Amino acid sequence: MEDLNETYWDNRYASHDNPWDLGVVSPPIKAYIDQLTDTFLRILIPGGGNSYEAEYLFHKGFTNVYVVDVSKTALNNIKSRVADFPDTQLIHADFFELDMSFDIIIEQTFFCALNPKFRTAYVEKTSSLLTPKGILVGVLFNSPLNNDQPPFGGHKALYKHLFEEAFDIQIMDDCYNSIPARQGKELFFKVVKK
Ligand SMILES: C[S@@+](CC[C@H](N)C(=O)[O-])C[C@H]1O[C@@H](n2cnc3c(N)ncnc32)[C@H](O)[C@@H]1O
Repeated sequence: MEDLNETYWDNRYASHDNPWDLGVVSPPIKAYIDQLTDTFLRILIPGGGNSYEAEYLFHKGFTNVYVVDVSKTALNNIKSRVADFPDTQLIHADFFELDMSFDIIIEQTFFCALNPKFRTAYVEKTSSLLTPKGILVGVLFNSPLNNDQPPFGGHKALYKHLFEEAFDIQIMDDCYNSIPARQGKELFFKVVKK
């Protein structure tokens, strides 16, 4: 399999080869954000890409929203859309190298972009970045998808098994408000750090 490194991802953004990009905030995540009231929550969007979710949060007054991404092009894209998004909160780094602390981590097609051999590391890293009782929330594909290139899929039983040691699984259900192209293929999940 191709090395899914910074060059791979940055080239995809630079050549506009980014079919995962919704161009708007993901509806299930928008619905989740819309019931948050504390605008001081520290929120991380790993592999945020063009990060419409970060933009949405920022415009709703959330001040502690961070994006970490290996693609400088993607981070520049956010900055060109949202000029006053703080530079210090657009982190050009490998998620697995991050050493910070958050109340909420939002998952949107980052997990499925990683080589599946890093899934256990993803669970450990998200857990270590969260405060006690911190929340990992978002969407996961409930479909096999690809074997040799992103997006890599999975199913509910697999994800439950993967997350249940480090997290209490509060929600992991079929998503009712996916975009039409992902209808029936997504799980909305919300898990709480043990
Ligand atoms: C499929 S894209 C999803 C982007 C965005 N979440 C969305 O839904 O449009 C995967 C993203 O993860 C980023 N990425 C991949 N591996 C990464 C890593 N180890 N650390 C940080 N970002 C990474 C890529 O640059 C890319 O922006």
